[in-house]
Amino acid sequence: MSEIDLKAYIRDVPDFPKPGILFRDITPLLANSHVFNEAIDQMAAHYEGKQIDAIVAAEARGFIFAAPLALRLNCGFVPVRKPGKLPFDTHSFHYELEYGSDTLEIHIDGVQPGQNVLMVDDLLATGGTMKACCNLVEKIGATVVGCCFLIHLKALEGEQRIAPFESFSLIEY
Ligand code: PRP
Ligand code: ADE
Repeated sequence: MSEIDLKAYIRDVPDFPKPGILFRDITPLLANSHVFNEAIDQMAAHYEGKQIDAIVAAEARGFIFAAPLALRLNCGFVPVRKPGKLPFDTHSFHYELEYGSDTLEIHIDGVQPGQNVLMVDDLLATGGTMKACCNLVEKIGATVVGCCFLIHLKALEGEQRIAPFESFSLIEY
């Protein structure tokens, strides 16, 4: 069992990016290699032994946790990106955020039908981003085996929004 208090490495920034939003800043955690490594270890431990073919994550902060976790779990990493960034043919989808709305894209061959896919992001707020990504992955014919987050903002009820997909997080507020 680790002695590291992951929450102690999250910085609260009031009124960013808009008045009324309390932004949970992950950069102090990322800046400390021991703490960052511990977070990836804890994520990997939760999914050890599960058959996972690919990890899907949305830019930008999702990538930070998805890539090292994919290496630990010996599976591929499939990026979901903002419009116009992916070079090949894409599926595109629109979704709502805690502070706005956005569109994301995934390569049409990024995820294959029948694959078991783990979804990763830094933070679960309203669940809009994750729900949209999960729906897309399932529409392609793959199975979402879980949704993994560093941080879960419980008051925003994102967990209920992404149900029935299973969610797992390391830090809760
Ligand atoms: C943030 C965060 C999650 C999402 C969570 O991304 O990294 O992806 O919001 O919010 P939700 O649960 O309400 O959908 P953001 O869109 O700010 O983009 P970034 O990763 O590029 O900073
Ligand atoms: N993404 C959505 N809501 C957020 C928040 N409160 N802090 C950091 N990232 C977020």
